[in-house]
Amino acid sequence: MTDLTRAVAVATDARHHSYSPYSHFAVGAALKLKDREVYVPGCNVENASFGGTWCAERSAVVAAISQYGRVEFESLTVVTDTDPPAYPCAFCRGVLVEFCGPDFPIYLANPDGVKITTRLGDILPHPFKLLPETSGS
Ligand code: THU
Repeated sequence: MTDLTRAVAVATDARHHSYSPYSHFAVGAALKLKDREVYVPGCNVENASFGGTWCAERSAVVAAISQYGRVEFESLTVVTDTDPPAYPCAFCRGVLVEFCGPDFPIYLANPDGVKITTRLGDILPHPFKLLPETSGS
């Protein structure tokens, strides 16, 4: 099984855990850790306040750091059931850019497979940063 196949499987599983009673839009994510065969899952978890909703991508980032500390991330895979698949929202892009550089690969998939391959720098050019450049590490 390739890394990407594994990532899609983990994100698809996570998507089935989505708590999305308001939008009924289930999202799953898998964050691959660099140099490790570890794929951290994330799903969207909605809240009655709406603003308290966690997107799948941010859930995966928080889960990864909670479990492994400040490790490096290798790629992100996101699964939705739309065609084309959904891109990460602006808020999630901003969270990813805290930890990942512009070449960070992002794979967008739906039940038919990976449909879009992009980079963080392509979907969030000119990001806002307070810390000095650390090339995503
Ligand atoms: N959502 C994500 O999980 N990731 C995104 O990047 C965009 C939106 C979720 C939030 C909410 O639960 C649902 O999709 C509809 O916006």
